[in-house]
Amino acid sequence: MSRALVVGNWKMNLDHVEAVHLTQQLGVILASRPAPHVDVVVAPPFVDLRSVGSVLEADRSAIELAAQHANPLPSGAHTGEVSVPMLARLRVRWVIVGHSERRALYAMSDDVVAATARAVVAGGLRAIVCVGEDEAVREAGRHREHVRAQVLAALEGLSAPEGDVVVAYEPVWAIGTGRSAGVEEVREMAHVIAEALATTRVTGARVLYGGSVNADNAADLLGGGVDGFLVGGASLRAESFGAIVSAGESCYAGGR
Ligand code: 13P
Repeated sequence: MSRALVVGNWKMNLDHVEAVHLTQQLGVILASRPAPHVDVVVAPPFVDLRSVGSVLEADRSAIELAAQHANPLPSGAHTGEVSVPMLARLRVRWVIVGHSERRALYAMSDDVVAATARAVVAGGLRAIVCVGEDEAVREAGRHREHVRAQVLAALEGLSAPEGDVVVAYEPVWAIGTGRSAGVEEVREMAHVIAEALATTRVTGARVLYGGSVNADNAADLLGGGVDGFLVGGASLRAESFGAIVSAGESCYAGGR
C-alpha cells in the first residue's frame, strides 16, 4: 500500500537548541495524533543533525532525518562541504538534492544535481530531487518542458532501489510567497513528472509538492495527486507541521 511522505525543510533556521526543542514538540504532537500512513522526515541544518538525531533515537521516534544538501564526492579538499558518508554516519536517511535555492544561489547545475543524486543512492541514502520552474518560465508557457528536462537530467544514468528516489515539484514562484500552486496546476505537473519518470530506470518514485504548503491548504493540494509535501516555513512550527502530517494521514488512511 502506498504511503504519504511529508518532509520539513528547515532551511537555514533554528540553531541546535531550537532544533531540539522543535523536535521534542513534534514528538508530542505526533504521539497524540498518530499518522501510521505517513512517512515523516525533517531536514535540519547540518549543525543540528546530531542533536536532532539523538532526540529521535531517545524517543524511538518514527521521524526520519534528512540533510538539505550533500557534496557528491566522498571526501577531499572541498572547504565548507559535507559528504554522503558523513551524513550516513549520523543516521541521516534522506538528502534533499538540487533545491531551487541551491540551484539559484549556489550555482548548482543539472550535472551536479545528477552527480549528487547518484552519490546519495550509491551511499545507501534516499534522494529527494527538487525540480520546478520560475515565474518567467511559467509565464512563457514552458513549465512542462522545463520540469520534464530537469527530471530527466537529474536522474540520468541513475538506477535505485524501489522508492529510494522522490521527486519534489517546487515551483520557484510558490516558495515562501504564500501563493501556493493551485490543485489543477499541481495535478498537471505531477502528471508531467510521472510521464518523465516512466522513461527512466527509477521505479516507485513518490512525487511531492512544495511551495507555500500550510495547515489550511494541505488537504486540498493532496487532491492534485501528489504523495505528500516538502514543507518550508510551515515546518518550523510543530502545530502547523503536525496538521500537514494529519492531512496526509486522513488522505491515506483509507488506502489511497
Ligand atoms: P515554503 O513552504 O516556505 O514555501 O518553502 C517550500 C520549500 O522550498 C521547501 O523546500
